[in-house]
Amino acid sequence: MQISIFGLGYVGAVSLACLARDGHEVTGVDIEPLKLDLIRAGRPPVVEEGIQDLFRDVAASGRVHVTTDPVEAVAQTDISFICVGTPSKSNGGQDLTAVLRLSEQLADALRRKDGYHVIVVRSTVQPGTVEELIRPILEKRSGKSAVNDFGLCFQPEFLREGSSIRDYDNPPFTIIGATSERAVAPLRDLFGKLKCEFIVTDIRTAEALKMACNAFHAVKITFANEIGRLGQALNVDGRAIMDLICKDTRLNISPAYLKPGFAFGGSCLPKELRAILYLAKQADVELPMLGNVLSSNKVHIEHALAMITNGGRRKVGMIGLSFKSGTDDLRESPLVTLAEQLVGKGYPLEIYDPDVNVARLIGANKRYIEQTIPHLSALMRDSAEEVIGSSEVLVLSRRSPEVMDGLRKQLRAKHQLLDLVGLEQHADLGGRYHGVCW
Ligand SMILES: NC(=O)c1ccc[n+]([C@@H]2O[C@H](COP(=O)([O-])OP(=O)(O)OC[C@H]3O[C@@H](n4cnc5c(N)ncnc54)[C@H](O)[C@@H]3O)[C@@H](O)[C@H]2O)c1
Repeated sequence: MQISIFGLGYVGAVSLACLARDGHEVTGVDIEPLKLDLIRAGRPPVVEEGIQDLFRDVAASGRVHVTTDPVEAVAQTDISFICVGTPSKSNGGQDLTAVLRLSEQLADALRRKDGYHVIVVRSTVQPGTVEELIRPILEKRSGKSAVNDFGLCFQPEFLREGSSIRDYDNPPFTIIGATSERAVAPLRDLFGKLKCEFIVTDIRTAEALKMACNAFHAVKITFANEIGRLGQALNVDGRAIMDLICKDTRLNISPAYLKPGFAFGGSCLPKELRAILYLAKQADVELPMLGNVLSSNKVHIEHALAMITNGGRRKVGMIGLSFKSGTDDLRESPLVTLAEQLVGKGYPLEIYDPDVNVARLIGANKRYIEQTIPHLSALMRDSAEEVIGSSEVLVLSRRSPEVMDGLRKQLRAKHQLLDLVGLEQHADLGGRYHGVCW
C-alpha cells in the first residue's frame, strides 16, 4: 500500500518504520526539517528500543520517503495517518491547533486529488473532534464528501513509549471509527492480520475510548501507589498486596465492577474505605484518590436525584431498595439514601423490592429497617404492579421477570423511567426512558 504519515514523533515514527518493514511504501511528513534529514540518513527521529536498526533497514529498502509538502504526500498515497501532537493547554484542555492546521492542508491536498483517499486520525483527540471539527474543514475546503469522495476514520494508538515497536505489533485490539465501510477496508488490509480483535465502532466512541483508557491506566497506577504508601506506613509490602490483588481475575482484574451503573453501597465497601482512610489519617499518610471515592459516590446519588427532580413529575416509584439485587441487606444502600432524599423533599414515594419483605425480615436487617429507616418501611408495597400503577417516575434497579413483565404491561406515556441497572432492551417499554449515566 502507498501510505503517508503526518507527524513523525513517537507515534508517527514508529508507524512509519513498522509499515515500511511490512513492505509498504511510506511517505513521512513533518514540519521539522531536521526530523526529515534524520530519516533520510536512516536514523530515527525518536529514541525507542530497537528503532535504530529498524530505521537503518527500512531506509536501505528504499520504501521510505520524506517531504514537507502535504499535497505531494496525499497525491502519491492511498491513505494518510494523522499523528501530530495534541498537548495540554494551560487550562487543561486539548490543544488541537496542529490537528486543525493539518486538516486544512489535507483538505487542500484532497481538492487537488482525483482518486479516493482515506484519512485516519491517530492523534488522541476528544470526542467530537473528528466529526465536528476535522470533517467540516475537510469537506468545506476540499468541496468533497467524507462518505463518497474520501474516507475519514479515527483509529486510537495504544503503543507505550519504551516498548512502542512491540506494542505496535501486539495491540490489545484494533479499534476503528469510520464514516463508511469503504474507509475501513484498507485498515482491515493493514491491521486485520494482527493477533487481536478488529472492532469497528462509531467515531465518537473510539475517540472517547482512548481518553478513558489513559485515565484508567492513571487510576490503576495511583491506586497501586496509594496502597504502597499505606502499606509502607503499616509495615506491609504493598507490592505483595498488589501481586495478590492481580491474581484474582474473577473480581479484581476482570470486567466485574467496571460498568457504568448506580452508586456502590452495602455493608462492606463504604465501611472498609472509611477504615482505610482512618488508618491512613492515623499514620499521617495522604491518600487523595481513595479519599475522594466516597464523595464521588455521593455525587452519583445526587446526579440520580437531580434527574428525578428535574423531570417535573412528583409521584415516584422505586423498584429496588437493597444495595444490590439478590440481597435484602439495606445497610448503606445508596437506594435508601436516594429514597430518604426524595422523602425529605416531599416527593410522594412508593417502594417495591422483591428481595425485601418487611414482614419476613429478621436479625440485623429487621433492626436496621425498624430503627434506622422506619419511615421507609411504611412506603414498601407488596408488588411491582402496585408501585408502577401509582407512580409517574419509576426508578428501576431490579430486572426480575415479574418487574419486567409489569413494566411492559403498565408503562404509559406519562411515565418517566430512570434506569439504574442498564436494561439491554427497553425499546418495547412505554414511557420516557433515561439511563442514569448513559
Ligand atoms: N507518545 C505516545 O506514547 C502516544 C501513544 C498513543 C497516542 N499518542 C497520541 O498521538 C499523538 C502524537 O503523539 P507523539 O508523542 O507522537 O507526538 P510528538 O509531539 O512526539 O510528535 C508530533 C509531531 O507532529 C509534527 N507536526 C506538527 N504539526 C504538523 C503538521 N502540520 N504536519 C506534519 N507534522 C506536524 C511535529 O513536528 C512533531 O514531530 C498525540 O495526540 C498523542 O496524544 C501518543
